[in-house]
Amino acid sequence: MSDDKANPEQANADAKLEVSRRDFLNEITLGALGVAGLGGAALTYQFFSPNVLFEQPTTFRAGNPDLYPVNSVTFLQDQLVYIVRTAAGFYAVSAVCTHLGCITQWKPDANTIACACHGSKFQPNGKKIEGPVARPLPHYAINLTAGGELQVDKLQIVEAARVLKV
Ligand code: FES
Repeated sequence: MSDDKANPEQANADAKLEVSRRDFLNEITLGALGVAGLGGAALTYQFFSPNVLFEQPTTFRAGNPDLYPVNSVTFLQDQLVYIVRTAAGFYAVSAVCTHLGCITQWKPDANTIACACHGSKFQPNGKKIEGPVARPLPHYAINLTAGGELQVDKLQIVEAARVLKV
């Protein structure tokens, strides 16, 4: 005589357990398919999204020339550029050290642009004074817009002797 016949309640409970195990496996399978579907949808979305690198524009306006006193050096932190105004005119100098790319600082007391990383120092016009740096700070093209604002183009490196007369 088998146990099922001996204990019908036990057999009924086993049958219910079997059904719930099946349901459990069905739910696991649906869950796995759902996760795989979401992963596939995410990859598809990423594939069709434009792969674009957003960078700052290389040309920017630096405002009215009257903002800059004669014989001044103004650091534009968001552009990493110095706007230098002398009696002769304007020029724009990169604030990125040509040694290893650190950001330099204007030191008005010493009348120098200094790099704290390895101690290079530059004149306000970008020429090297001392330090391990081999090249001067580059000058960017600076012009006046039709509206009379200064405009700097960081893609155009110009000779240090070029000055914008205003
Ligand atoms: S990065 Fe400026 S001196 Fe080295």
